[in-house]
Amino acid sequence: MEGDISDVSETLLITLYARALETKTTDPVLEDPKAVEIAEKLRPELLESNSMLRRNLAKGRIRKDLRLYISLRARRYDQYANEFLKENPKGVVVNLGCGLDTRFFRIDDGKLAFYDLDLPEVIEIKKKLFSETDRYRYIASSVLNYAWMDRLKERHPGPFLFLAEGLFMYLPQEDVKKLVIEMHKTFPGSELACEMANSVIQRTPLRQIAKYKMRKQLRLGKNAFYSSGISDGKEVERWAHGIRFLDDWSYFDVNEKKPALYRMMRHIPLFRKMQWTVHYLL
Ligand SMILES: C[S@@+](CC[C@H](N)C(=O)[O-])C[C@H]1O[C@@H](n2cnc3c(N)ncnc32)[C@H](O)[C@@H]1O
Repeated sequence: MEGDISDVSETLLITLYARALETKTTDPVLEDPKAVEIAEKLRPELLESNSMLRRNLAKGRIRKDLRLYISLRARRYDQYANEFLKENPKGVVVNLGCGLDTRFFRIDDGKLAFYDLDLPEVIEIKKKLFSETDRYRYIASSVLNYAWMDRLKERHPGPFLFLAEGLFMYLPQEDVKKLVIEMHKTFPGSELACEMANSVIQRTPLRQIAKYKMRKQLRLGKNAFYSSGISDGKEVERWAHGIRFLDDWSYFDVNEKKPALYRMMRHIPLFRKMQWTVHYLL
């Protein structure tokens, strides 16, 4: 895997190991046995790696708050999918920028149609770990190459639920805006749950501080940094007539396993929305 994926795609290892390590705790907020299986499979290769990030992950070294954040976020996105499927039993779930996520295996009810979309080099790795079926398929494409939308539309009448967990903040602002507008035009009435960064992070000196933290604490490459953001969930409603804000979710909203200081952050709007998830009707 070494050298095959970009700095941004490398972040998929952090989320995979976070879910696997959380699963192995005595009181996990998320149970993801498939993530444990894959993490074990990749471990020997990562231990031999030149990358400190990879070696640390393979040794189970990840900050507890990050492990918890990623696991609670994954659980919330599973919930979005389950709620959508309850309302729309014939609906289709599309995981944009899926990385090595194992959501399909966590939520499959035996009927679900599910797509995992990521860059071709990531899908190549996925193909070695899981097999596609009639109901679980891969799309090897940049989310910014809109041909994937036509493929989906030809195959299914919808509605669709699009999940973008840990993706949009790595794409340029204009690209995110154009993408959401295009999705709104192609899939009106479908839903999108997407994680957003706050645009304040793009301003100096916060940008420099955040960049330094990501490089030093996470050992990420220099290109894995946030390139876009919004200041409020409702901002996206102004991108195209008809897009509707439904609700939002922040890590700080959840009480479990967190120090009181973290729970208090939900009362400070800027902290609550430094990086959070927004749910839209397209
Ligand atoms: C932080 S990881 C998140 C992975 C997964 N959603 C999760 O939560 O485990 C970011 C993912 O976005 C993918 N990505 C980055 N740019 C992309 C693009 N233009 N099109 C599709 N996927 C992209 C990366 O390859 C990587 O898998």
